[in-house]
Amino acid sequence: MTPDLMREGAARRAAYEARKAALPPRPPRGGFGRPLQHLEPVFTQGVALYVEDVTVSFDGFKALNSLSLTVNAGELRCIIGPNGAGKTTMMDCITGKTSPDSGRLSFGSNIDLLRLSEPEIATAGIGRKFQKPTVYERLTVQDNLAMSLAGPRSVRASLFPAMSGHHDGAEAARLDELLTLIELKSSAFREAGLLSHGQKQWLEIGMLLAQDPKLLLLDEPVAGMTDEETERTAELFLSLEGQHSLVVVEHDMKFVGQLAGTHRKVTVLHEGQVLAEGKLAEVQADERVVEVYLGR
Ligand SMILES: Nc1ncnc2c1ncn2[C@@H]1O[C@H](COP(=O)(O)OP(=O)(O)OP(=O)(O)O)[C@@H](O)[C@H]1O
Ligand SMILES: [Mg+2]
Repeated sequence: MTPDLMREGAARRAAYEARKAALPPRPPRGGFGRPLQHLEPVFTQGVALYVEDVTVSFDGFKALNSLSLTVNAGELRCIIGPNGAGKTTMMDCITGKTSPDSGRLSFGSNIDLLRLSEPEIATAGIGRKFQKPTVYERLTVQDNLAMSLAGPRSVRASLFPAMSGHHDGAEAARLDELLTLIELKSSAFREAGLLSHGQKQWLEIGMLLAQDPKLLLLDEPVAGMTDEETERTAELFLSLEGQHSLVVVEHDMKFVGQLAGTHRKVTVLHEGQVLAEGKLAEVQADERVVEVYLGR
């Protein structure tokens, strides 16, 4: 996207944030004062995520405009589209950060996400990776993972059990498995702050996986990675397919190509709606997609 349009998006966001401070707040999702709900999604219909007719407006501008899509259980779905298409806003809605004006969001066939708070949504099994890695720089790689194993899906989180360095059998085995998966076994006892950017991203993905999410949302996970790191990240995500549902937003089309292969579905968002959906070759051949995104 052109720098002009990017500036326009950022300016719109800043103006809205400034005005929002003066407005009465939208009612919080989930509601305060009631106990945190523990819910298990049911995927018997084969669908992990339903986004139905979701509209989000910021000062009248529709960042999502009646957006509808579904993601199957165990599916690896790439979402592409120009800057400002609404990709991050969609993730904000799924994770409870933003409340839509209208529409429905369900996790499995039984969980109405609009009734849950952000922590409840995480506890139900939706994990999110932001673009910037957020690891505890002063802790070792292993301690970062151990902290995530302990919480926030468990009350033990607040008790810092992970830091003792003594892990019981099951915990030690899981740590080992995670370290191998994210290829950081030889760095287990290094401070996370000393890792490369790509390794920090992997550590954060490992920290998400430690909480065993059923649905993983990854927003531009390979931004700033080297080509080799990007390729290995694709291999990692492909290895998670089936056990987790993954929604990956990326602009790096080589990476998207590696993930989508010849048979996986790709969704193209534009102006808060699904512009096209299908196999990568199909959406790449779609003139409207070329026009708004790929052709530039
Ligand atoms: N909090 C906000 N306040 C006002 N406008 C916002 C806010 N969040 C997003 N927007 C606007 O909504 C539109 C969609 O933004 P979003 O960040 O979802 O796009 P995106 O598809 O993730 O783009 P990119 O590829 O650049 O990350 C943009 O025009 C953006 O400026
Ligand atoms: Mg975004």
